[in-house]
Amino acid sequence: MTSALPQHRGDDLWSRIDRQLAYPRGVAGWLLGHIMVPLNRSPNRKAVAALAPRGGEAILEVGFGPGQALGDILAVAPGCRLHGIDRSAEMVDLARWRNRRAGGALDLRIGTLSDLPWPDASFDKVLAVNVAYFFDEEGIAARELHRVLRPGGRLVLYVTDRDTMARWRLAGPETHRLYGKTDIETMLVGAGFEPRNIKLTAVSLPLGMQGWMATAERSALSSVRSADPAETRGSAS
Ligand SMILES: C[S@@+](CC[C@H](N)C(=O)[O-])C[C@H]1O[C@@H](n2cnc3c(N)ncnc32)[C@H](O)[C@@H]1O
Repeated sequence: MTSALPQHRGDDLWSRIDRQLAYPRGVAGWLLGHIMVPLNRSPNRKAVAALAPRGGEAILEVGFGPGQALGDILAVAPGCRLHGIDRSAEMVDLARWRNRRAGGALDLRIGTLSDLPWPDASFDKVLAVNVAYFFDEEGIAARELHRVLRPGGRLVLYVTDRDTMARWRLAGPETHRLYGKTDIETMLVGAGFEPRNIKLTAVSLPLGMQGWMATAERSALSSVRSADPAETRGSAS
C-alpha cells in the first residue's frame, strides 16, 4: 500500500515550495512566480471571463502573484481602474514588470488581505484566484473582500478542489486551507454574501484537475458604512 503524505513534513523541498506559494520571497519566490504563470494560466483566464471586466469599472485583484490576470483584465478592459494587493514585494515587482505597459492604469500595493487599504464599497469587482487557501479561519480576509465591494458588485474567486489537492505532494494542509463546494459557500456566507447571490461552478482543468469558480454578488440592499474621512485609507478612483 502506498503511504499517505506525512502530516508533519518539516523542512523538506515540498514544504519549502508550499511556504513559497503562500508567501513568495527571495530568489526562490521570484522563480516560483515565473513558474506560476503557465501553471495557473487556465484558472486565471476562466476567472477573468467570469469577472467580465469593463472599461470605467474599479477592479481589485487580491493575491495577484506574478500578475497574469491583471494583464488579462487590462487586455479586455483597457479603460478600467485596476488595483491589486499582495503581501510579497517580489510578486509586486514581478507583476509591475509584466504589466509595465499599463502605466498609471495600474495601482499595485504591498499589503495584507486582512486589512485592505481602501474604503468600504470602493470596487465594482474583486478577483481572487488561488488565494483563498491563505484566508484566515476567523473570516477576516473574506469579510474584507465583501466590505470593499460596492452593493451590487461582484466577487470572482477560484480555488482548486480539496480532492485534487489531496493527490499532490504540494499545497498541504499545513500551509493551505482546503475547500470543497460547501466549504466555499460557508466561507462566502460568513463574509456577508447572501446564499442566493452565490453561484458555484465546477471547473475542469488540464491534467484532471478539478476546481470551483465562485461568483458572489454583494446584495444591492446591503448597508455600507460611510468611509471615515479620518481614516488613512486611500481611494480607489
Ligand atoms: C499561489 S499564489 C497565486 C497567484 C495568482 N493569483 C495566480 O493564480 O497565479 C498566492 C498569492 O497570494 C499572496 N497572498 C497569500 N496570502 C496573502 C495575504 N494574507 N495577504 C496578501 N497576499 C497574500 C501571495 O503572496 C501569493 O502571491
